[in-house]
Amino acid sequence: MRPTKNICCIGAGYVGGPTMSVIAQKNPSIKVTCVDLNESRIKAWNNENLDNLPIYEPGLAEVVAEARGRNLFFSTDVDKAIDEADMIFISVNTPTKTYGEGKGMAADLKYIELCARQIARVATNDKIIVEKSTLPVRTAEAVKSILDHTGNGVNFQILSNPEFLAEGTAIQDLQNADRVLIGGENTEDGKLAMQELVNIYASWLPKDRILTTNVWSSELSKLVANAFLAQRVSSINAISELCEVTEADVQEVAKAIGKDSRIGPKFLNASVGFGGSCFQKDILNLVYISKSLGLNEVADYWEQVIIMNDHQKNRFARKIVKTLYNTVADKKIAFLGWAFKKDTNDTRESAAIYIAEKLLHEQANITIYDPKVKEHQIFSDLEYLGTLDPEIIKQRVRVVNDPYLAMDQAHAIAILTEWDEFITYDWRRVYDKMVKPAFVFDGRGITDGLNLEKYDFQVFRLGKSI
Ligand code: NAD
Ligand code: UGA
Repeated sequence: MRPTKNICCIGAGYVGGPTMSVIAQKNPSIKVTCVDLNESRIKAWNNENLDNLPIYEPGLAEVVAEARGRNLFFSTDVDKAIDEADMIFISVNTPTKTYGEGKGMAADLKYIELCARQIARVATNDKIIVEKSTLPVRTAEAVKSILDHTGNGVNFQILSNPEFLAEGTAIQDLQNADRVLIGGENTEDGKLAMQELVNIYASWLPKDRILTTNVWSSELSKLVANAFLAQRVSSINAISELCEVTEADVQEVAKAIGKDSRIGPKFLNASVGFGGSCFQKDILNLVYISKSLGLNEVADYWEQVIIMNDHQKNRFARKIVKTLYNTVADKKIAFLGWAFKKDTNDTRESAAIYIAEKLLHEQANITIYDPKVKEHQIFSDLEYLGTLDPEIIKQRVRVVNDPYLAMDQAHAIAILTEWDEFITYDWRRVYDKMVKPAFVFDGRGITDGLNLEKYDFQVFRLGKSI
């Protein structure tokens, strides 16, 4: 097996872009080419102005500035990059299926299969194929089957190397990963391939953080890690509802249980519901796999995490309507935040979308401010739901660049993303300009220190008695 000099990554999205940027930064002697079919995305990755990269991630622009043009390249020429590469990462999207068998549950693997077929068609020398996308356990079998039947004598080694970065902290997570997981075949060639990938990560991470396993453990561990993380959020969200009726305080409960070193303090923030492109998709996938294997109790257990999350979003929207005297019709509700978490412009599965949907069905007018999400994205998220009349969306939704404008003459404010800037606002000024009584619905637990009650706001905080 020849040493890796040339890497290609298919898919320049939230994972491919930042991951390849860091691999290139840390391995200046390896040429890394990130390719995508999406021309505008590649154009943005190549934009001179680093503020216009297609993804907002703290620290990303600096890494791109260091490596781009040196050994990091972004291109739409997928065939050329495949042909030149010793190692090919597949980092394309694996959304939930929207059609056919497994609709609404299973992962849609058509993009993965297209990549495998393209590699099979183009490759003329031996290559290591790395599954970077999150995939159902045993997907490597299908990829291998496509690659092993080309008849052109090329040998492929398939590795699983799932990504654990979280958006908003992607660069930090990549540069200082808790662990890197590499699954491969337990054969001489399999071990050599794994070693090649270990070497790439070992250029910046301590060896004891690089775990090697069999392919299936690696594929499954990714789904399980996301399921466990989401389960923690649903668990604390379930407790938040209990706190509201018992005079317990969810943040105090989280702190008290988090001090137990077996439980730990992280991922215990009650919220309006988890979002993001992966938690729901990966749990649904786990549920689907379990059901397909006849493991109904396993499937039901994990499905409950999603049921609880949907409940949390619904009850937050219902709380707004109920508190505003059972009607929000023609009232102005200001949304602070649209992204699924702070420090990202990603809105996929954001709780804000579903809260907006429910309030629009109640004929509310919504004005949205998010520091990083663009207007066209917000409208496209609402239209994509397919449950709202596009005319109604146009009439009732406004997106503004100024938070004070969003809250001016509002009946209520809903805090849906935990952006740091929200707590720095002049809340006296906000109060003065609102319709009274002025309501705040804090879906992120960020206003505790502000004592908004002193300005006479009526505040609902998740997980606090009211
Ligand atoms: P994304 O949608 O941002 O990016 C995927 C990219 O792949 C798109 O730009 C698309 O145009 C491109 N693509 C699809 N098919 C292609 C093809 N045949 N040739 C070239 N380009 C192609 O998705 P993402 O968020 O980067 O996620 C990618 C994978 O990583 C998913 O499986 C996801 O579950 C997993 N993952 C995501 C995150 C995250 O934080 N977003 C974290 C860990 C793992
Ligand atoms: C998550 C995982 O944390 C990553 O390890 C994984 O790689 C990634 O999914 C993936 O596979 O896509 P991400 O979705 O980017 O990362 O962000 P998280 O920080 O995990 O937050 C997910 C959602 O849970 C957000 O909506 C966040 O606001 C919410 N959350 C998180 C809470 O409501 N409370 C918490 O305590 C933590």
